Amino acid sequence: MNILILGSGGREHTFAWKIAQSNQCENLYVAPGNAGTAQIATNLPFGYNDFEKIGNFVLENEIGMVVVGPEEPLVKGVVDYFKADKKLRRIRIIGPDSNGAQLEGSKDFSKDFMLKYGIPTAASQTFVKGQLDKANAYLETVKGTFVLKADGLAAGKGVIITDELAEAKNSMREMLEESKFGEAGNKVLVEEFLKGIELSVFVLSDGKNYVILPEAKDYKRIGEGDTGLNTGGMGAVSPVPFADEAFMKKVEELVVKPTLAGLQAEKIHYVGFIFIGLMNDNGEPKVIEYNVRMGDPETEVVLPRIKTDLVRLLKAAADGKLDKITLKINPKSAVTSVVVAGGYPEDYKKGAKMTIPESGNDTLIFHAGTTNNENGDIVTNGGRVMALTGMARSTAAAIRKSQSLARKIKYSGKYYRKDIGQDILKILSSDSN
Ligand code: AMP
Ligand code: GLY
Repeated sequence: MNILILGSGGREHTFAWKIAQSNQCENLYVAPGNAGTAQIATNLPFGYNDFEKIGNFVLENEIGMVVVGPEEPLVKGVVDYFKADKKLRRIRIIGPDSNGAQLEGSKDFSKDFMLKYGIPTAASQTFVKGQLDKANAYLETVKGTFVLKADGLAAGKGVIITDELAEAKNSMREMLEESKFGEAGNKVLVEEFLKGIELSVFVLSDGKNYVILPEAKDYKRIGEGDTGLNTGGMGAVSPVPFADEAFMKKVEELVVKPTLAGLQAEKIHYVGFIFIGLMNDNGEPKVIEYNVRMGDPETEVVLPRIKTDLVRLLKAAADGKLDKITLKINPKSAVTSVVVAGGYPEDYKKGAKMTIPESGNDTLIFHAGTTNNENGDIVTNGGRVMALTGMARSTAAAIRKSQSLARKIKYSGKYYRKDIGQDILKILSSDSN
């Protein structure tokens, strides 16, 4: 089967790497891809939001399956575009339609959904344009930390967490009155602040059956010790010690099952990944958010731990046959460290020439913001440049492998966090005492 992956990040390189291992994959394409995907697949000269070019390419090149990496084309309706065309309708496409994608595309929708189907989450209030006074009056009643969220997609920047009332009010005004995040901020949610440790849970759904993939922990802040600005993600670890069988059973019963039942009740035929970001609040899961895709950089630790043929798995999801699949998981730990461009997540430069070491035993190099320049050199082309994954029997050894790769990669302005996974090691050592 010929397969097309939409996207250009570390997540998509990881998908390409795993899909290329399947004997069911004939030709593999990535639109638009990066310098890493170019080594194992054919990069295409159009982006993931160009539905017409995607559709034409799929028909002309007998693509049997399309795997959608990022949320944007899903929210914009790439699946709807396929379903509305009599030829494209027959092609397998992994991802929900725009209705299903509302789970990520609108925080107001997903909050209502969670409340309607009894899924544990933070209490919240929604305010719309024209309600600034009401919103400010409400903020004055909030005790403790303020959590403000723009309703729509805001490239990971739409969440403001602050202890200062003045800052909360200022952010509220910027969103509701000054369109700081464009339309995404026309509605703003004020949420209860949840304490605890965050966990990323991944589910693959075929519309009625599901499989739960390995869980992961993400490191979102730019600075060591979880300080500084939010990023797309600076590293990830899988497995996560507190996500033991008892906790994951709770997640399945209290979150996964009611989520899938809710989607069915809403007549949303959901084929694709559901990424549940949740807080472990003293042993109780509380949902922070849904995403309608895999996480990045979580994919860089989750897929390497899946032994099952990924094409078989995705085909089963598209064909409604996930009940026939038993997932095989590699018991090793996987840790990824992301190297970024100096200045990220604020302004940064592109085009720095890179020196990349060989990957070795149980070390994997996934490109994110990279491209080939006119001389064929690999140069940086984004904020997050690469994710370096190490795998080993212990988390400590996996961290060492990942960090050693991050250290060896060379380009001007490189930065990475040196504390990825250290909190997990602390949990592990206190568990064994
Ligand atoms: P989101 O864009 O919804 O993923 O939010 C970004 C990050 O903000 C999350 O990963 C959490 O670390 C944090 N966050 C969001 N909502 C809450 C909340 N209600 N309580 C505490 N932290 C939160
Ligand atoms: N790493 C978090 C995300 O993909 O949204």
